[in-house]
Amino acid sequence: MKKIQIINGPNLNLLGKREPTVYGNASFEGYLDELRARYPQCEIAYFQSNIEGEMIDKIHETGFEYDGIIMNAGAYTHTSIALHDAIKAVTTPVIEVHISNVHARESFRHVSMISAACKGVILGFGLDSYRLALEALMQQPTAND
Ligand code: DQA
Repeated sequence: MKKIQIINGPNLNLLGKREPTVYGNASFEGYLDELRARYPQCEIAYFQSNIEGEMIDKIHETGFEYDGIIMNAGAYTHTSIALHDAIKAVTTPVIEVHISNVHARESFRHVSMISAACKGVILGFGLDSYRLALEALMQQPTAND
């Protein structure tokens, strides 16, 4: 069974309440229940933190063992060389996701510090971005099949 870690960064604990016109009305916990029900063949672990160092610790903890990491780094996407380095340091493929189409928003969101270190990037499909990333990871041959 594939083991997938989802890591959500700052302010994503407020999904459902935060800027619903941009991020929608659904909480991540509710969405996660649906995702787990739809993909019983995957073990999906979930971690959210507003603290950059805790996200780095989670990448280190899972990045040699899990089959994939799906990461929405929130605003740290645009600033964090430390997250870039953490992704580079591990062997597990990391997919960068965003709920919104960051390229259709403010120019400071057009730059990602982490994309170059990631296996791929999926953005702009709302919460479905996470499912699309999961589909992509399921195509990757890995140890926990
Ligand atoms: C986001 C986009 C980021 O620019 C923003 O800071 C977020 C959410 C997204 O999922 O669309 O917190 O990563």
